[in-house]
Amino acid sequence: MAIDAAELRRVFGQFATGVTVVTTRHEGVPQGMTANSFTSVSLDPPLVLFCADRRARSGMLVGTAGCFAINVLAEEQRHLSDLFAGKGTDEQRRALLDEIGQGAVTGAPILQGALGWLDCRLERAIDAGDHIVYFGEVVAAGAGDPASPLLYFRSGYRRLDQL
Ligand SMILES: Cc1cc2nc3c(=O)[nH]c(=O)nc-3n(C[C@H](O)[C@H](O)[C@H](O)COP(=O)(O)O)c2cc1C
Repeated sequence: MAIDAAELRRVFGQFATGVTVVTTRHEGVPQGMTANSFTSVSLDPPLVLFCADRRARSGMLVGTAGCFAINVLAEEQRHLSDLFAGKGTDEQRRALLDEIGQGAVTGAPILQGALGWLDCRLERAIDAGDHIVYFGEVVAAGAGDPASPLLYFRSGYRRLDQL
């Protein structure tokens, strides 16, 4: 039986997640995209993954840049999620990332005010349907100040007390 795409999308949306901005630095130029497909994979060795749509330009650049950083967004950073999810111009994204500087080890930008960040070397990339799964080995990490997370559920942003 063929799976109905709209139903599949609805069911995927029943899984509440946090929101991250995945950044990279490609040929010296900082890039970023919003992603909620981040998953922690392994503690030893330290591995994480995220999935990028083949049409996501920033996602595709991770493959050649060879690095990425996961920035876990706080509730107050919803504007950053919008900015890196297609609502901002390339110039706005670039200006914000340029302000931040070089990042930790790989050079992928680390966002100020993030709940936590993971700087990763690309470990492998796997084609998976219309997405690419990027695995990263964590080479530096940091937790930010305690704050509430930005959440995503049923195609919308949520707060912890609003699920
Ligand atoms: C909350 C949220 C989560 C998202 N998660 C992903 C994701 O995990 N992978 C993905 O490819 N796109 C995801 N997107 C869509 C991308 O952020 C969006 O298509 C973005 O514009 C792609 O980057 P680009 O403009 O560099 O192509 C998400 C969007 C939102 C609002």
